[in-house]
Amino acid sequence: MKRTTPVIPAEDIQRQKEYCAELRALNAEKPTPPLAYVDTYGCQQNEADSELLRGMLCDMGYQITGTDQGADVIVINTCAIREHAEQRVFGNVGALVHGKRKNPSQIICLCGCMAQEPHVAERLRQTYRHVDLVFGPQALWRFPEFFRRVYLRRGRVFETDPSDGAIAEGLPVRRSGKLKAWVSIMYGCNNFCSYCIVPYVRGRERSREPDIILNEIRQLVEQGYKDITLLGQNVNSYGRDLEGDMDFPTLLAQAAAIPGEFLLRFMTSHPKDATEKLFDVMASCEKVAPVIHLPFQSGNTRVLTAMNRRYTREQYLEKVRALRERIPSVVLTSDVIVGFPGETIPEFEDTLSLIEEVRFDALFTFIYSPRKGTPAAEMPDPISKEEKSASFDRLVKAQNRISLEKHQAYIGTVQRCLIDGAGEDPRNNLTARTAGNRLVHLTGDPALIGQFADIRITDCSTWALFGELA
Ligand code: 5AD
Ligand code: SF4
Repeated sequence: MKRTTPVIPAEDIQRQKEYCAELRALNAEKPTPPLAYVDTYGCQQNEADSELLRGMLCDMGYQITGTDQGADVIVINTCAIREHAEQRVFGNVGALVHGKRKNPSQIICLCGCMAQEPHVAERLRQTYRHVDLVFGPQALWRFPEFFRRVYLRRGRVFETDPSDGAIAEGLPVRRSGKLKAWVSIMYGCNNFCSYCIVPYVRGRERSREPDIILNEIRQLVEQGYKDITLLGQNVNSYGRDLEGDMDFPTLLAQAAAIPGEFLLRFMTSHPKDATEKLFDVMASCEKVAPVIHLPFQSGNTRVLTAMNRRYTREQYLEKVRALRERIPSVVLTSDVIVGFPGETIPEFEDTLSLIEEVRFDALFTFIYSPRKGTPAAEMPDPISKEEKSASFDRLVKAQNRISLEKHQAYIGTVQRCLIDGAGEDPRNNLTARTAGNRLVHLTGDPALIGQFADIRITDCSTWALFGELA
């Protein structure tokens, strides 16, 4: 296959670094280092993008702060997946006008998926005049260039051209954690599920070179990272745009062969592209955590077809069977949408019966939210809000019962966990994660943070496990 993904030339990345250096020199003249705050909404990809934004801001001489109070620069990295997320952003961005009035030299930037929606950019342009810089996900690597334009007071900057996107390597990154790290392996989405805005705002699927990804993982392991998540909108289509036979299971197996004590996870997998080859790699590589997030969205084949998911209920169940045949104790999580346009009560009940049949460990449940520009937003939707929320409540109740039952089955077992932080409750001063990413509360020496340890599970709730060092 021929490589079709454009890669940003190294000299263009270098130019961005020169802009950073120029700004760093200007900021160095200030009596104290100026402060920058990056606020992140939405998915792990946005978290990873924010780590790049912080890296670039540090390179420009900013110190990163955890609040907008007193910040010289505010960057809001937004999510467009549901209306609720957008309303929160508009509310919070609106409230920033007061801080800016007190500090007119403050620079406010808005980026991420919302920035790429034409109606959002227009609304920001017209009514949110305190926002100085707006740029979409495909333009992230040019942040220093845009920022410099605003900094040198050349007016407001809007960079929201729709483009398919490219691969930008070598940007500075400032990671938030010391144990857990995100590694983007690809960007964009080609699936066009009929409800979803992502393919319109994040461009086409494009894969990073395997050698670059593997080097990044190697470095993370050398730096002591223990829990590494490979990210992509649909990791299972990794490599389709690369030359040769590279695919996701191959990449995963190569990553798992890197020496060191660490676990690998990945997100998200589209069921239509989750193959037995992937399940085989998961089963045979000890460093690949026995967990998969496999969004099913609906348990009814007519609804799945209207969603353009390209699998049937039966095909989904068959994937789960093939997976569990290889890894019986696999932790399985999923996403589901309630109230897709025209979904009837019997069709919703197929979703309920699917979760009873599969028994997911955890489920992310969403009420359908129409997204401007997507095909589903044009579909007739006669079902009332009240009916949708009644169905939603039934689903959440059923899943909470299943999650609790699943957690109860852990009691008495010993789980190898990564002790990953301090808890808020003094009786359980530590938190840990099982290989399957279940949260465990326990008591122990804080010096254990960062180590893998065997933990005996003694109790549970719907949301977490409780244990002691075994
Ligand atoms: N409405 C509700 N939920 C949505 N998702 C994506 N688009 C929408 C929408 N328009 C959900 C899907 C997806 C998850 C990330 O968000 O379940 O898997
Ligand atoms: Fe959206 Fe579907 Fe792509 Fe996931 S696979 S990002 S739900 S279009």
